[in-house]
Formats: sequence, C-alpha cells, structure tokens
Amino acid sequence: MASDSIKSVLVEDRVFAPPADFAARMGEVHVPDMAAYRAMHERSIRDPEGFWGEVARGFRWFAPWTRVVEWNLPDAKWFVGGTANACFNAVDRQVEEGHGDDVASGWEGEPVGPGGPEVRRGTYRELRDEVARCAEALESLGVRKGDVVTIYMGMVPELAVAVLACARIGAPHSVIFGGFAAQAIVDRVQDADSKVIVTCDGAWRRGGVVPLKANVDAACERLPGVRSVLVLRRTGTEGAMKNGRDRWWHELVPAQPATRACEPVDSEHPLFLLYTSGSTGKPKGILHTTGGYMVYVAATARWTFNLQPGTGQVYFCTADLGWITGHSYIVYGILPNRVPTVMYEGAPNFPAEDRFWAIVERHKATHFYTAPTAIRSFMRWGDAHPAKHDLSSLRVLGTVGEPINPEAWIWYHERIGGGRCPIVDTIWQTETGGHVITPLPGATPTVPGSCTLPMFGVDAAVVDEHGTEQPANAGGLLVIRRPWPGMLRGVHGDRQRFVDTYWSRVKGMYLAGDGARRDSRGYFWIMGRIDDVLNVSGHRLGTAEVESSLVGSKLVVEAAVVGMPHEIKGTGVAAFCVLHPDHAKDAGDAMRRRLMEHVAKDIGAIARPDVIRFTNALPKTRSGKIMRRLLRDVAAGKETTQDTTTLEDFGVLAKLRESDE
Ligand code: PRX
Repeated sequence: MASDSIKSVLVEDRVFAPPADFAARMGEVHVPDMAAYRAMHERSIRDPEGFWGEVARGFRWFAPWTRVVEWNLPDAKWFVGGTANACFNAVDRQVEEGHGDDVASGWEGEPVGPGGPEVRRGTYRELRDEVARCAEALESLGVRKGDVVTIYMGMVPELAVAVLACARIGAPHSVIFGGFAAQAIVDRVQDADSKVIVTCDGAWRRGGVVPLKANVDAACERLPGVRSVLVLRRTGTEGAMKNGRDRWWHELVPAQPATRACEPVDSEHPLFLLYTSGSTGKPKGILHTTGGYMVYVAATARWTFNLQPGTGQVYFCTADLGWITGHSYIVYGILPNRVPTVMYEGAPNFPAEDRFWAIVERHKATHFYTAPTAIRSFMRWGDAHPAKHDLSSLRVLGTVGEPINPEAWIWYHERIGGGRCPIVDTIWQTETGGHVITPLPGATPTVPGSCTLPMFGVDAAVVDEHGTEQPANAGGLLVIRRPWPGMLRGVHGDRQRFVDTYWSRVKGMYLAGDGARRDSRGYFWIMGRIDDVLNVSGHRLGTAEVESSLVGSKLVVEAAVVGMPHEIKGTGVAAFCVLHPDHAKDAGDAMRRRLMEHVAKDIGAIARPDVIRFTNALPKTRSGKIMRRLLRDVAAGKETTQDTTTLEDFGVLAKLRESDE
C-alpha cells in the first residue's frame, strides 16, 4: 500500500485548474471557486440543519418537516415529519411550474437501421402522463403503497417510467440489472417478498437478444409468490404468456387514464431497494427512503455537474438503471434539475466502437458520465473513433465506479474533452445514495487519479481502526463521521448485517469498505476495497457469490475466488477450484469453459471467471480459513512475499503455481 501511494504521489503532480472560460461556457457556476467551496463545506458540517434545510426548501413538500435530521447512531431520519413524493419533484412539478413542454429525456435504441437508430424524446408532460398510466396499471395488478415491485428490463424508456410509477404510488422498486440471470432474480425477489415483476420480452445487446422474459419464467418456477408479470414488448421475441399471471404492457398501460396523482408519503417512506454484493452471503438489499435521497441526489447532481436548466444542457450517463448510478444520476438526480437526460439501450461497440460519440454528437450532449473500465476500452479501440465525431458540445466529463488510472484520465481529458472539460471523478456507493467525494467542475483543481474533496455535508476522513485520523499519505479506512441525507437507511430484513457491515469496525462512524489516503493538500485517493468484494468493471461482485455458484454446479467441491489485475476490467475474477473426485480427471479447458458458462448463466456475465485454476487443495490457515492473500499473489503471478507460517500445507501453494498453464 505504502509504496503504491508514494509512486502515485511522485507520478501525479499534474494539477488541472478549472478552465478559465468555464463560467463563460456554463452560464452561472453554482460553486465558482475554492473559497466558495470551503465556505459552503465548512458551514454544511458546522450547521447541517441550516444547510440542508435551505437546500430542501428548494423542493416541493406536501407537508413541511419539523426537524431536519434526527441522529440515533446508526439510524438517521431526515426531514422528519415531512411528506413528499420523489416522482412529483422529478416530473409533475416541472409541468405544474410551466415547463411541461421542455424535453425531459432522450433515448436511443441499439439497432441501427438504414435511417439510423430509433431515437425518442419525451417532454415532462408526456413523461408525467405515461408514468401516471403505468402507476394505474400497477395498481390494477394489486400493487399498494409499501409493496415491493421488481423491475427487470433492458435500458428502454419504459424502465424509467416503471421506476417513477412505483415512486408515484409509494411502492418501493427493486430494479435488477438486465445482465443478471435467473438465480439473481430468484434471490432478490424472495428477499424482497415481491409479488409483481415488470420485464421485457427481450433486450437488445450487441446485436443479439437477451431473453429477459425467459429468465423471469425460469425464476418464477422457484417463486410461487409472484402474482403478476407485466411484459413490455421490445424485441418481438416469441414466448408463452402465462394465463392469469402475465400481462402485456401495450394492452394494459395505454388503456389507463393518466389521472393518478402522486401519493404523498412520509419523508422516511421506502423509495427503493437496490441489491448489492457484500463480502459474505447473498446480495443485500440496500434501502433508500424518500426525502433525504430525493434532496441529496438532485442537489449533488446540480453541484457536481453544474446543471443549469434552460441553457441548452443535455446530460448523457452511460450507466444502466440496474445500478445505483442509473437510479441517482439518470433519473432521480437529473429530472428535478430540468436538464434532459439521455439513455442508451445497448453496447458501446455496436454497431461500431464509436457509438457513444455518435450519441454525444446527435444529442449535443454537454455532460458525459461513464466508468474508467469503459474509458480503457475506448483507449484500446483507438483515437480514430472519437475523432470522427463532433464532440464540441461537451462541457463536463465524469467518471465513477473505480479508481481511474492517470493514463486513462489524461486520454479522457484530451481525446474526449478536447482539453477544455473538467473531469469529475466521483466516488460513492450504492449505500451513499449520491456522490460523497468529488471535484466540483468550476472550483476544484483536479489531479488525475484523485477524487479530490468531500461533497457538502459529507464529513469524510481516513482513519485507523480506532477512528483516529491518519497523517497525510498514510493509508487507512475511508469513513464518514456524521449522517448525510442520501445515506442508506438499512439492509432489507437484516438489521444485524447493517450494523455489522457499516457501523461496527470503527466505532460511531460509517465504514465505506474502501482503503484510502489523503495527500498533503487534503485530496482523497481511493486504494480499493478492504473486504472480499471485487470491483469488476466498476461493478461490485462478492467473491462468496461466485464461489457458491461454482460449488452449486456440483462439479466443484471447494472454490476460492479472488481478484486479479485486468487491463480493461480493472479487476478480473480468478477462481481456484477443487474438482469433485468424479470429475477430477476432467481438469482441463473444456471443464474450465463449462464452469465459466455455469457462473455466467447462474449469476450473469459480469461474474464469469476470467481464469480458472484446478488444484487438489486450497491453502488454509490452521483454523481452516482460506488464505486469500496468497491466492491473490498467485493469481497476479507474483512471487509471494506474504507470511506463510500459518499455512497448513506449504505444498499446496507450490502446486498452484506449477499448475499455471
Ligand atoms: O470501491 C469503491 C468503488 O465502487 C464501490 C461502490 O460500488 P457500488 O456500490 O456498486 O457503486 C458504484 C457506483 C457509485 C466503492 O466502495 N468506487 C466507486 N466510484 C469510485 C470508486 N473507487 C474509486 N474512485 C471512484 N470514483
């Protein structure tokens, strides 16, 4: 850790000040310089009630709150006693305030016909009507306030509509990424006790069809509690509709009146569950509630991206709505700011590697927000692809998901931003709801690879296990020392896991699960997860999930999964497997492929191991714990320098190295 940090300090002394003409190109800048940032941040920590009270007054409430925050560690309540609706603030409010004809959203389908791709644009009024119809349709299927609705769709406009329709009636949504497979649906639907699923017949992906409805059908065989499945036709994929359970969107939704108003809900009413991987067991349902989340994501979007309605801005985020980035910074954070949000259905390299740049050009995007793994792919695909397109509309670039390597940062800055666009490297998590450490584009001088300074209201620090702040450049644990409005409110159905994971290791502080350091100017550098969670292409994957899938194949009796360096993904998945005695003779490439496919089918392509090694035994401590740090070294091809004195069988390690075919 220490030598890595020193290296990055030495290499990275390039500082990029916000461009001098940024203000001229953006109109007004919300946070125009570092003095303004420091004054606002200082106040937000000294007087959170005053600070957030003022911010929240910019939103519409059905009934006012009586207290801004109530903090009974680890439980926080925000805007206590207030009632509001997140869909109202995102959509209806704009119509009521005279902006019904403004463009709310843009969308591009993946297939490209002779006349170009299918492009849709919708106004706030159109969006409101469609959301109201969908809300009514969900109610006709028996959904009531408080019922969890599972949404498993491709990146189509109706996905955002379904999400907002749930918010409209106070039914928490649980969106499952369309790249996940049947087992992931089963786990999440069961955990949330969800009775209604919204899906598509299929989703377009790299020219092929992902059979979403077939996956739902397979999952439903193990989900007797599912009562209704609402199916949007997108790909025209044939499949049986189950009588009494399945309904077509195009038959049910358009037939509804567009009259359903937004349900006023308590500020702490659940808005959604979003499942994310942890270091042990099944994914956990992170709970976000209405008032605090709604305020936090819209306010942070405004500051981080300097959003300004009515100035021709167009915002394009490449994330999928199945992840928190899509929830917070495609839908809930962007729509209330009245800047059109652009969604794209498919793969970045379909039909060719310039697809994102074609979208930026076609929609005249001013903002582009993506992940470092994507940037590394763009670099590999070559400069010619962005160079073919007019990217001069761009003003602000963002990255999220994992630390960005300085080389990718510089490439992004030069080739995509033309050297004139500030880059906001935003670190946050499913649990934090919104950005917690990030540059502000008109104020913060950036250093490639650093996410710089905390967001307003976020008291971030790097501490040791006792909560003592670490000196400059000493690594430690990333924590947040007081509540912020967007923070998770719990892990669905598992109070103990909430307490243990986030609030126990460092007393009285929220533990993010990341290692970090601050440099001498106070900038944060994220050094990666401290638990058994991998960050694969900017997505979280629990090693335990992949291991249990491998063992679940019945071909493997024991498996250990660790991360390994991967040029594009950042971290790749390496699996060490002990085959079942009946299959031990089959150790080889065919078995590797079989296991890789098994995991991809079980969990989703994201979890497919990059490397599988067969071994007769896994290295364990005397107490029987798998020695993952040794396996990480083996996977990385490093000579291990780790202390091996507790190894039960030294020979195991030597054998693993030899088996490096
Ligand atoms: O390790 C950090 C990494 O992603 C984790 C959160 O993953 P998830 O909940 O899936 O949310 C991803 C999108 C918000 C963090 O604990 N991470 C996210 N953004 C960054 C990052 N690491 C370094 N720099 C970032 N900008």
